[in-house]
Amino acid sequence: MIGTLRRTGLVAAAWLVMSAAAAGVTPAAAEPAPDAHYSAADYTAGSWAAHAAGKADGLVMVRGLKKLVADYKTRAADKYTGASWAPFAEALAKADGVAADAAATAPEVAAAKTALVTAAGNLVAAEEGTFQTITNDVFWNDTSGNPIYSQGGGVFKFGDTYYWYGVHYSGAELYRANPTRKYDGDVSFVSIPVYSSKDLVNWKFENRVATRATSLAGGATLGQAGWVGRLGVSYNENTGKYVLVTQVYLPSLGGDGNGVLFLQGDSPTDTFDYAYYQNQVVNSPTTGTGDQTVFTDDDGKDYLIFSNRSGRSRAFVAKLRESDSLRIEPAVQIGSNSSGREGNAMFKLDGKYYHAASDLHGWNTSVTHVIESTSGNIQGAYTGEYTLAGTEMDYSHVTQTGFFVTVKGTKQNTVIFAGDRWADFAWNGIGYNQWMPVTRTGARPQFHSVSQWQFNATTGAWRVGQNNNYILNPDFQADRVTVSTLTGWTNTGGSVTNVSPGANGSRFALQLGSGSAGVRQQITVPAGTYTLSAYAKTAGSVSGAQVSVTDAGGATRTLDIPSSSGWTRRELPGIPLASGPATVTVRTSGGTLTVDGLGLVRTSGGTPTGQRHEAETAPAVCQGTIDANWAGFSGSGFCNADNATGAYAQFTVNASAAGTTALGIRFANGGSAARTANLVVNGSTVATLSFESTGAWSTWVTKPANVPLNAGTNTIRLDPTTAAGLPNLDYLDLGTAV
Ligand code: GCU
Ligand code: CA
Repeated sequence: MIGTLRRTGLVAAAWLVMSAAAAGVTPAAAEPAPDAHYSAADYTAGSWAAHAAGKADGLVMVRGLKKLVADYKTRAADKYTGASWAPFAEALAKADGVAADAAATAPEVAAAKTALVTAAGNLVAAEEGTFQTITNDVFWNDTSGNPIYSQGGGVFKFGDTYYWYGVHYSGAELYRANPTRKYDGDVSFVSIPVYSSKDLVNWKFENRVATRATSLAGGATLGQAGWVGRLGVSYNENTGKYVLVTQVYLPSLGGDGNGVLFLQGDSPTDTFDYAYYQNQVVNSPTTGTGDQTVFTDDDGKDYLIFSNRSGRSRAFVAKLRESDSLRIEPAVQIGSNSSGREGNAMFKLDGKYYHAASDLHGWNTSVTHVIESTSGNIQGAYTGEYTLAGTEMDYSHVTQTGFFVTVKGTKQNTVIFAGDRWADFAWNGIGYNQWMPVTRTGARPQFHSVSQWQFNATTGAWRVGQNNNYILNPDFQADRVTVSTLTGWTNTGGSVTNVSPGANGSRFALQLGSGSAGVRQQITVPAGTYTLSAYAKTAGSVSGAQVSVTDAGGATRTLDIPSSSGWTRRELPGIPLASGPATVTVRTSGGTLTVDGLGLVRTSGGTPTGQRHEAETAPAVCQGTIDANWAGFSGSGFCNADNATGAYAQFTVNASAAGTTALGIRFANGGSAARTANLVVNGSTVATLSFESTGAWSTWVTKPANVPLNAGTNTIRLDPTTAAGLPNLDYLDLGTAV
């Protein structure tokens, strides 16, 4: 991040280097000869004319500066404090002049750019900003409703804008389209997209800064690399260039092919070009890096945070070369752990540096291990390792450390822990990007494992979201293998394990029994009225199967689980809970109980609206009659569709953003045979569902499913596949976590 103008002395130094170039010395950052994606308009008129006239040196690129000037001209004075606007307006006017100056030199262009992004970074909003909602455990979309595919990257603030860079892998597309399968190891590189945002929540797609076609040294292309990932971007104040630093494996680049690749762009959203490849960082025992991220300090200095590639037992901090950011300088070791660490990333909170990393679990989830600086020196001494509080119960919200975004708000500093569940071409749950707040409430930072929260990027304030699920590891996905004690859960006796598949067809659910068995979890809740819910199925002769919650006052509320061989959603709404610790218990005294998708969501203080769609309420369509003769329905009736193919029931729902959404369909089937229906979303069949017999027309159960929704209005239709028609339908619940 660019806080204050820095390294002004080095701007002058860079100018000397440029002058030296004219005297025949190789310059540190000469403008390469233009290739296909550059044209006259990208350079100063003077330097282009000289180049065209056959003079070999001196091309001066202004494309990035022009782009920044055009962008910053859209800012309005009344949105900022006068004190911060004045220097910005001055820097913008100057930059505008330099961009139009046919004779501007490369150092002048770089200096104008640096002054502009610095002044933009110092803009202070006149108003407080608004809370935006971050929802985890879902797939994210950009502001155009297209999937965000960005993993193993970072968010960097250049000027007044956050830019998010990461890798789009082909496996990410496959898993999103079908999350009931896993796509181990499909890390084929697609591209490096860049998104921009002012609030860190709404992300606009800008460009693909690199693609498989990106040219590298020796005629190679990025698409030939066996691995591309773990990247970050820094702005170099001396060259005015944006430098992307990523791991790469490509033997033709030199050495053993494991190295750090440098790509360079002229603006944050530019198409980046090859700049350098470094096989070995001095002081690392192995070539390349283990996992790495780029950390930019308050003074604008940039560092590579990494562990050694083979073994990953040592934690390093290495500077990016100040003159041009195109080398990793000799590394300084700040920690070690013989078991190995990866997902290495750094954050700074209230003056201290925190280095965080995960276990060496491949793509899987882990607690977060932290070492903290004991001086103000990022490359100085660090404490021994401890576990980041709040990451133990659900393995960092079922993620591996990805990167951190430190937000210095007008009211408080909040760090965003950007966890990676990219993991999940390896099957740890829905969604790739899980972002949680980290604050320093005591001596040490605290991770808040929330499934939904609201954040104000201006003030830095955050609060728990209305649909937050207070149960941790509620989908039993944190454990990557079959275990007999599940992460976040304490066994209270009997046979306990995790089994596959879970309620949504992906892996794991909790299984208790056969016979008496149970688990419990202690959480902390604010006072309120809650809904407790679970997907459950049973086998054998079940007795005493239940999910219950006991609050700080000792009151216990119990959701009884009746026998059902298929996955059924059960819920107990309207539970009052006192503030403080609460214990969630799952148990059975006989038979086998399997549960998944536990939910404890606060409904008081504003019930989530627009989530439930009754079958009898327009715009819902029922090709049959709306009846009320069988008890137990909600609302004023249910849809009794005709017993015929073509006799469908349709719901119209609204989604605030595109993405996969879980739903629950409440139905009764008093017949003896299951009835099947196609689940048709916006005209396309996405699944065929079987509505098993519920034993009686007055016995209602809820069937889970996942549907892809567009932002805005969507139709969800159930089309019977046989002449038996549909079961009776009560309602459709949207956004129920499965
Ligand atoms: C019975 C029942 C209806 C149901 C119908 C059916 O008539 O009363 O509610 O819709 O069976 O088989 O679909
Ligand atoms: Ca019927």
